[in-house]
Amino acid sequence: SIRTSKVACIGAGYVGGPTMATIAQRCPHIQVYVLDISQSRIAAWNSDQLPIYEPGLDDVVKECRGRNLHFTTDVSGMVKECDIIFVSVNTPTKTRGLGAGRAADLATWELAARCIAENADGPKIVIEKSTVPVRTAAAVQRVLEANEKPDVKFVILSNPEFLAEGTAMKDLEKPDRVLLGGPEDEDGQFALKLLVDVYANWVPREKILTTNLWSSELSKLVANAFLAQRISSINAISMLCEKTGANVKEVAHAIGLDSRIGPKFLNASVGFGGSCFQKDILNLVYLCESFGLPQVAAYWQQVVDMNEVQKHNFTRKVIDAMFNTVNRKKIAIFGFAFKKDTGDTRETPALTVCSLLMSDGAILHVYDPKVTREQALQEFRDHRLEFDFEKQFFWEEDAESAVQDSHAILILTEWDAFKGYDYSLFRKRMRKPAFLFDGRNILDHDKLADIGFEVHSIGKPPLRSRAPINNSH
Ligand code: NAI
Repeated sequence: SIRTSKVACIGAGYVGGPTMATIAQRCPHIQVYVLDISQSRIAAWNSDQLPIYEPGLDDVVKECRGRNLHFTTDVSGMVKECDIIFVSVNTPTKTRGLGAGRAADLATWELAARCIAENADGPKIVIEKSTVPVRTAAAVQRVLEANEKPDVKFVILSNPEFLAEGTAMKDLEKPDRVLLGGPEDEDGQFALKLLVDVYANWVPREKILTTNLWSSELSKLVANAFLAQRISSINAISMLCEKTGANVKEVAHAIGLDSRIGPKFLNASVGFGGSCFQKDILNLVYLCESFGLPQVAAYWQQVVDMNEVQKHNFTRKVIDAMFNTVNRKKIAIFGFAFKKDTGDTRETPALTVCSLLMSDGAILHVYDPKVTREQALQEFRDHRLEFDFEKQFFWEEDAESAVQDSHAILILTEWDAFKGYDYSLFRKRMRKPAFLFDGRNILDHDKLADIGFEVHSIGKPPLRSRAPINNSH
């Protein structure tokens, strides 16, 4: 007696918003309710200024909102109304207590589960969309069942989300796979079938995998660990390239042609960021330790450690090149988001780089097409990083203003727009020697050296200015 014409999702964030918008678009026969405790977030979802930037999202929301896509703060009311409930609340790393700095903080999850338990008056299918540690479903089951309502049955499914920010709408429309895990008993298999039917409205059946609960939960952590591990691996090699005269782009290309390795995710950079990679690996590390597997834990911990090294290394390179001091020097920062095509700044490498530079006295002028200064400041606050922001951290409306009278340009996000700028004009506006540090290897470094920049990138030897003498000052 599960009603399938309505579904709810608790958590209207980067995952809940785009996923539910896609379900609404692809399943016009289903009414979709996206719920959140944050008034301001829901208000933004109901406005013309959506709370998150994601290419293509605006159009889908406009198409479906009010038709079969609804955003509301009435969490308990809609939980009562809907029998199929996705949960995509945030699961940050614990900041204190047991497992601090590594384990996932499931407090938000427990609250959501308790809310479902209190408001359920019939059977419910609860779907974990958040990334959670293995066996979370068992804990959720206990919370739900502790409410002791005789007629109320709960089935918990795991349906981890594999979308990547910046390409979320494309990923949701054409996923590589949809992963559904569920209990092996009859109720579990019945619930799984209902969820398969929802996705089968637009995803080819052979791309919808069903597994047991624990495989599904663990697969999400492992997918992120493998992806991040590729980045840390190529970044580790980039350091060796810088010492030996090899070029990491050439190395990546050469190894990527091996079909067993493949070409994707082999761009050396200042480091990975985002709310997921670090959190999920730390979570995996914590799990391994708690299950008595210290060597496995250490192996994956190294992926995160290498990322820290890379961010510090890049910053040291900047300071070294600029005659060992950035004190009171104006530096233009291009990009603060953790990657292109998103306004998300969680765990962005720019945070570490900017902090280290400000500690050394630099004055930063930041431009990012999608991030606001307030959001960047919040990121510093979230990490308890204190600086004299009024004197050292300026926000600019465009790249050109950031560059005026600066000693260096740092590329920290790979926004496509950064490739199209007139760098020879920029150089004219800068102090000399004009430095450019490409933390994402997106620019034509030879051309920049010809223009007169001193160019430092990742995994390649630095290039001195090759401009004629009369143009070099
Ligand atoms: P988010 O922080 O953007 O959104 C979570 C939302 O849940 C917030 O708006 C918060 O107000 C709301 N919330 C928290 N507790 C609530 C409660 N009890 N009742 C109602 N609303 C509540 O987080 P995001 O990025 O959407 O991530 C959610 C989960 O999905 C995380 O576990 C994350 O690891 C996972 N994930 C994230 C991906 C990403 O690219 N951001 C990709 C794949 C998975």
